[in-house]
Amino acid sequence: MRSVFANAKIIDLDSIFAEKYILITEISRDIFKAKELLSQGELVGIPTETVYGLAGNALNEDSLLKIYKTKNRPGFDPLIIHTDSFEKIKAYANEIPDMFEPLFNKFSPGPLTYVVEKKKSISDIATSGLKTMAVRVPNHDLTLDLLKILDFPIAAPSANLFGKISPTSPQHVYNQLNGKIPLILEGGNCNIGVESTIIRFNKDEIIVLRLGGTSIEELHDFLPNIKITYKSNHQIDAPGQLRSHYATKTPLLFGNIEENIQHKNPDKTGIISLSKLFPEINNSNQRQLSVINDLNEAAKNLFKVMHELDTLNLEIILAEEFPEKGLGKAINDRLKRASINW
Ligand code: TXA
Ligand code: MG
Repeated sequence: MRSVFANAKIIDLDSIFAEKYILITEISRDIFKAKELLSQGELVGIPTETVYGLAGNALNEDSLLKIYKTKNRPGFDPLIIHTDSFEKIKAYANEIPDMFEPLFNKFSPGPLTYVVEKKKSISDIATSGLKTMAVRVPNHDLTLDLLKILDFPIAAPSANLFGKISPTSPQHVYNQLNGKIPLILEGGNCNIGVESTIIRFNKDEIIVLRLGGTSIEELHDFLPNIKITYKSNHQIDAPGQLRSHYATKTPLLFGNIEENIQHKNPDKTGIISLSKLFPEINNSNQRQLSVINDLNEAAKNLFKVMHELDTLNLEIILAEEFPEKGLGKAINDRLKRASINW
């Protein structure tokens, strides 16, 4: 039985959505169609600057359950709420810490997600029973236009199947969710390419729960006197931090490529590097994320390259460790979680 946790009750998802019919998945830019579908409780793939999201009406519990079911997502992994303004966030949050508004004015719309206490109107199903919710305003014109015409916020995890690589193009969403959702909004390739940074507030401190599109350096530059702590890894404060996230089907080894490359088959080994080429390995299996060593460009290309290499029937993918600065930290985090040796 697949189930989600809500109000200490176990809800059997399979019994709620027993219908077995195949949907035709349309790809278009029609935000009015998206509005209609979301209002009816259906799910829609939406573009954001980070990754594509699988959106449902955050005030409709059936839609929320459908999100978990469609992604095969465990019920203990809460969703991110998306809306388009500070006023709307205030309407659903119980308490807004002092630091919230200046941060919001600086970084939103953008790849920063804030964990705040939620009001009752946001269902425990969205937050996996937590009394807090994660909320953000995505920076993508089409999705902002959609959010403006909705009279409810949307819950949107990344539009991939649980544990798989996040989608950064409509085609990536289609490849994983074709036949499961009626519409994907066509918003091009994602500009940032890794998920949002998630923060929570602790008195005068900011705790980073997930590394992502807003770098710790940017937060620090903006609030130089505030302590910013990254609570790394295994803590389930941000359950999306589970180890086996973002996995390629092909085993991926993270770390020093010069060492890991020994005795590998040149035609069956893939490479993910920042800018270096490895003459030992067939060129067509190698992906440089940024030949000009730009970590923002590298982040933008990361998931696309992981999707691509995963279709080449390779035995192994070797990924190097990126410089631990700026978005390099988020890239390393995703590669570690995708790897078999971390
Ligand atoms: O960039 C993004 O944030 C993308 C796009 C679609 O907006 N969304 C995304 O959602 O990455 P998802 O579901 O893949 O990741 C959501 C993560 C959860 O895994 C969980 O760790 C964290 O957000 N989260 C959600 N609610 C939380 C809460 N109340 N407290 C702490 N972490 C929370
Ligand atoms: Mg995700």
